[in-house]
Amino acid sequence: MATPRRPIIAGNWKMFKTTQEATAFVEALWQKVQSRATAELPEIVVCPPFTALSTVKQQVEKLGAPFIVAAQTMESRDNGAYTGEISPLMLADLGIRWVVLGHSERRQYFNETDETVTAKTLAALKHGMTPIVCVGEELQERENGLTDAVIEQQIRAVCSQLQTSDLPKIVIAYEPVWAIGTGKVCEAAEANRVCALIRHFVGEYGPAEQTRILYGGSVKADNTQALMSQSDIDGGLVGGASLEAESFFGIIQHASPVTA
Ligand code: PGA
Repeated sequence: MATPRRPIIAGNWKMFKTTQEATAFVEALWQKVQSRATAELPEIVVCPPFTALSTVKQQVEKLGAPFIVAAQTMESRDNGAYTGEISPLMLADLGIRWVVLGHSERRQYFNETDETVTAKTLAALKHGMTPIVCVGEELQERENGLTDAVIEQQIRAVCSQLQTSDLPKIVIAYEPVWAIGTGKVCEAAEANRVCALIRHFVGEYGPAEQTRILYGGSVKADNTQALMSQSDIDGGLVGGASLEAESFFGIIQHASPVTA
């Protein structure tokens, strides 16, 4: 039997939290998580803004907390005249090994395209980082019956450029844009259908059984279980509900690894 995929719950803080707020959050989450054996927990990822990355990374190490600290985006190039950008080398310098790429807000407000997301994914892998690659359709695309075609294009753009051996290393987040920050969660069976479709497309480039595919978009403690019990959903990328330790821990509790 294939090894079960370990679930991931990732909290994307977006442009929220000063360093002081960030450390208070980590402390509070650690208090709650400590009562659980690591084997009962999903992989827990927190994505602070750049300004708090270093502080949170050091704090997590000092506490010995099993939290992965991830960046919310990065530039694909190692260095150069790109004012304001942060490179993979700079993240590596802080010990950051995970990064969210191609979030719909990056695509929508900062002109990221399938091409730039692919370049960033390749850069992450080159530097030994785990990318969480976000894909998802907009409301109008869904209403026009284009969901599957949009997902196919976004997945193929990235996967066609990767080595077969990279496919199990990437994490994909299916985030329907209309479900992000709206309180309108995608119905679990439909989210699972799209995640299975993603796995199918990934599988055309190599082994997809170990690739973890997350769902994101209005994930809350009370809808986590329905989503996580689906065959092809391996965790959640959480925005709003990841900002308070209480609500984030509620989600974590409903995403325990399946015991084989
Ligand atoms: P949300 O955000 O949970 O607030 O809908 C999800 C995301 O943007 O990743």
